[in-house]
Amino acid sequence: MCGIVGYIGNDNSIPILLEGLKRLEYRGYDSAGISYIKDGIGEVIKRQGKVSALTEAVERENISAPIGIGHTRWATHGVPNEINAHPHYNREKSLFLIHNGIIENYLSIKAGLVKEGYEFFTDTDTEVLVNLIDRYIKKKNLSLFQAVRYALNEVEGTYGIAVLSIAEPDKIVVAKNGSPLVIGIGDQENFIASDVNALVSHTKQVVYLEDNEMAVIYKDRFVAKTISDERIEKEIHEITVDADEITKGGFPHFMLKEIMEQPESVRNSMRGRLILDEGLIKLGGLLGYEQRIANSNRIIISACGTSWHAALVAEYMIEEFCGIPVEVEYASEFRYRHPVIRKDDTIIFISQSGETLDTLAALKEAKRRGALVMGVCNVVGSSIARASETGVYIHAGPEIGVASTKAFTSQLIVMALITVLIARNRQMSQIEGVELTKAISELPEKIQEILELNDQIEKIAEVYKNASNFLYLGRGYNFPVALEGALKLKEISYIHAEGYPAAEMKHGPIALIDDNMPAVFVAPNDPTYEKIISNIMEVKARNGKVIAIACNGDSKIDDMVDHVIKIPTTHRMLTPILTVIPLQLLAYHIAVKKGLNVDQPRNLAKSVTVE
Ligand code: F6R
Repeated sequence: MCGIVGYIGNDNSIPILLEGLKRLEYRGYDSAGISYIKDGIGEVIKRQGKVSALTEAVERENISAPIGIGHTRWATHGVPNEINAHPHYNREKSLFLIHNGIIENYLSIKAGLVKEGYEFFTDTDTEVLVNLIDRYIKKKNLSLFQAVRYALNEVEGTYGIAVLSIAEPDKIVVAKNGSPLVIGIGDQENFIASDVNALVSHTKQVVYLEDNEMAVIYKDRFVAKTISDERIEKEIHEITVDADEITKGGFPHFMLKEIMEQPESVRNSMRGRLILDEGLIKLGGLLGYEQRIANSNRIIISACGTSWHAALVAEYMIEEFCGIPVEVEYASEFRYRHPVIRKDDTIIFISQSGETLDTLAALKEAKRRGALVMGVCNVVGSSIARASETGVYIHAGPEIGVASTKAFTSQLIVMALITVLIARNRQMSQIEGVELTKAISELPEKIQEILELNDQIEKIAEVYKNASNFLYLGRGYNFPVALEGALKLKEISYIHAEGYPAAEMKHGPIALIDDNMPAVFVAPNDPTYEKIISNIMEVKARNGKVIAIACNGDSKIDDMVDHVIKIPTTHRMLTPILTVIPLQLLAYHIAVKKGLNVDQPRNLAKSVTVE
C-alpha cells in the first residue's frame, strides 16, 4: 500500500517521478504528491485523487529539477485529502518525506514534539516522523542520514521512506522496515521505488534493501548501512521485467488484458517444469528439498485473499494425491493465534506480490519456529521470496489490475506441479503422473477456448448487472472457485456476493433465494456433479436464477438452468484453473457495465503492506 519513487541525476526528475507514480498507482490511489529541490528551494505539489490529477497540476508548472521524490497514497491515518497527501515536510519546508507503512507509536512521539513547540497540520503518522527528524537535526546538529537513523530508532511500526533536505541537496536518504524499497542503479543517476515496475524503463540493475537497512543515494553511487550504522555491501540484481509487459497493450483495462493473457501466463508457469514421458516435475527452486517436503508430517498453506483461495484448492490437491494432511490458514490469523508448528511441517506461503505484510510476518514466525518455509510468489525478488528458505516463482508476469486473475491460475498451476512432485516422491504411479502432467500441459489451449466465450459472458453480465446480491456455489475442488468468483464480483462491482460449498446452501443461504437472486453454480464433470445438480434443482424450485459453469458435452444441465457456460473437460484436480475464467470475465463485464473503475476499485490496493 502506497507507492514511493525518487530520482537523483542529471535529468529532470519530474517526468520520471510522474511516470513512476503511474506505474505504482495500483498500490494506492487516494492522493498523490511530489517534492523536489531546485536552486536550493524545496517545493511540494500534492493533489487528492489519482496520479492524473497530480500530473495535470505539475505539468501546468513546467518544472525541471534534478532531485525529487513522489508518493501515491492508500490512506491509513487521516482521510484521503490534499493535506494528508505525501510528501510531508517540516515547518521551514526544508525537509520532505514520503512513507509507505504505519508508524504505530506516532501519538506518543507527537505528544513529545508538541511539548517542544512543534505544530501539526495533518492527521497522518508520517508528519510526526518528518518532524522527529527535524528535531534531531536541530537539537543534535546531525547530518540528514544520522537524524533519520536516530528518528527511526525511536519508531515502532513499518516503513519504506525517502527523505530530502535542502541543506543536503545531493542525496536522498532511504530506509526500510516491513515495506518494500528498491534502489535502481543508473549511469550518473539513481532511482528508488517501492517496486521494480516503476524502474524498468530506466534501468535493469536493482538493489533490494532489507528490513532495518538504510541507504544514502547520490547520483553516482549509494552507501548502504544498517539502522545501527554498520556499513553493508549490497548485491546488484538484474531484473527481467520489460517495460511493455506493464502497459495495457491495447486493452481497455489491465484486468481484461491479464484475463486474456492466461493461456500464456499459465504456459510460463509450467515452462520447463514438466517431464511428460516420465510423469515427473522439475522445480529448480525446490532442488535439494524434495525429500524433506515429501516426508513432511503436515503441510500448512498460508495466504490472504485470492492467494488464500489458491491455497484451499491446493489443500484438496495435496490431500488427495500426496496423502499428507494439509491445513490452510489466513496469514493474518496464523501469525497471531499461537499455531502449533513442528519442525517436520512444511509451510507454504502463497503471495502474488510477495509483499503482503500479514503473509510475510506469518512466514517469519514459521521460520523462527523451525518449520521448512516455502514461498510461492509472482514478483521476483519480493520480500516473501527472499525470506523463504525454498520456493517456486509462478512466472505469471506483472499483474497490475488490482483484482488478481492471472496470478490465481498460475498459483494453481504451481500448486498442481508441487502436488505431482510430492506425490511422485510418495505413492503416485508413473501412469498417474503421466496422465496429470499431460493434462497440465493441455491447459493453455483449453483456457484459450474459454476466453472465446467472452461475448456470451458479456451478454449474461448485461442481464444481471443490476442485481444487488449473488450467490456462488461449488463443491470439492470448485468450492474455493465459488469463493474466488464471489470475491472477484464484490471487489470490482461492489455487488454483495457470497461463495459457499453448494451443500451448505440448505443450512442457511437458501433463505436468500428468490426470483431476484442469481446463483452461479460451478458444475464441471467431476465426482460431485450429481450432487451439484440436486443443489441446482433446489434453487430452481424456489424460482432462483441459475448461471452454471458446466463441461462441453453436458446436455443434461441445459434445461435446468437459465444460462450455461460450457468449458472443456480436464482432470478433476485441474478444473479450478478452467472454471474460474468465466467467473473472472463475468465480474469484469458486470463492473464495466456499471461504469466502475475495474483496475482501481474503491478502497483497495494491490499490495497490502499494512496489517
Ligand atoms: C483479490 C486480491 C487480493 C489479494 C490479497 C493477497 O483480487 O487481489 O485478495 O489476493 O491481497 O495478495 P498477495 O497475493 O499479493 O499476497
